[in-house]
Amino acid sequence: MLVHAIPTNVSYEFAAEVRDGLTRAEQKELPSKYLYDDVGSALFEVISHLPEYGLTRADERLLRRHASEIVDRVQGPVAVAELGSGSGRKTRWLLEAFCRKQRTSYYPVEISHSALVMCERALSDIDSISIVGFEREYLDGLLEVAAYRTPGQHLCVLFLGSTIGNFDRAAGVNFLSRVRCVLQPGDSLLLGTDLEKSHSQLIRAYDDELGVTAAFNLNLLARINRELGADFNLAEFEHLARINEVERSVEMHLFSKRRQVVSVPAAEVVVEFREGETIWTESSHKYSMDEIFETARKAGFRCEVQWVDEEWPFAENLLVAE
Ligand code: AVI
Repeated sequence: MLVHAIPTNVSYEFAAEVRDGLTRAEQKELPSKYLYDDVGSALFEVISHLPEYGLTRADERLLRRHASEIVDRVQGPVAVAELGSGSGRKTRWLLEAFCRKQRTSYYPVEISHSALVMCERALSDIDSISIVGFEREYLDGLLEVAAYRTPGQHLCVLFLGSTIGNFDRAAGVNFLSRVRCVLQPGDSLLLGTDLEKSHSQLIRAYDDELGVTAAFNLNLLARINRELGADFNLAEFEHLARINEVERSVEMHLFSKRRQVVSVPAAEVVVEFREGETIWTESSHKYSMDEIFETARKAGFRCEVQWVDEEWPFAENLLVAE
């Protein structure tokens, strides 16, 4: 696979965002995208197999069961771009269905180099596929993919796994609008959304018994130690999952067990934590079915079909650019 790699001023940006997030007067926070270094991505892969976390399996079930139907609804000829390909496991069903109809170019866009390599390994045996990976942020990568479009070819963008849920709702609409700006009328976006479910089910999913989600969350502090020379003592922080009823989301936090001071040399900052203070690291918003129509409309799409899983409330939504 050809991989277009990114120029790296990444750790400078990481240091700046850590400094900004940890010096907030009110709620300290860290951007959730930094949960996914190689260790974090591997831990997320484990989370996706946990009995308490049904999201990924629901996504995969829907794609496996409805791949041909989804592909038949997409206007062709088409090239396929995926925002955040991960390991590529769940995309296989769709790509096989596309490749049964036509030779297909597949463009995974992913900030993690190791995930891109895994994705290529997992999918390159499919007949009639060509894979070109973009090691980029989503929108930068999508803009480049659009430049590869041949005359008369449509784009089908995959944004699976409910990654949209990790944006707050307004930012989600804004992101989808920016995706829409890169597309042409008739192009499509297959959007995976985790649906509302009971609070107890959500807490179990985001605070599992084995402690894998806790390790995934704490790894962010370990990453700041590794990459920015910080001295977080991981034993003095605890993973916390809590429901935000107003936002209809589940939040992950890192809870400081005592008063402590941490220095982050590469971010040129020394941070004080009160006992019980938290760092907010991620929100996972849950959607209602109707809301998806409205979200699509606001972003310049029409929601044409929804497929819903029967075991774990999750929807695959086919949006068409208007
Ligand atoms: C990637 N994203 C959709 C996951 C979610 O459910 O919000 C990330 C995750 N965080 C904790 N567990 C899984």
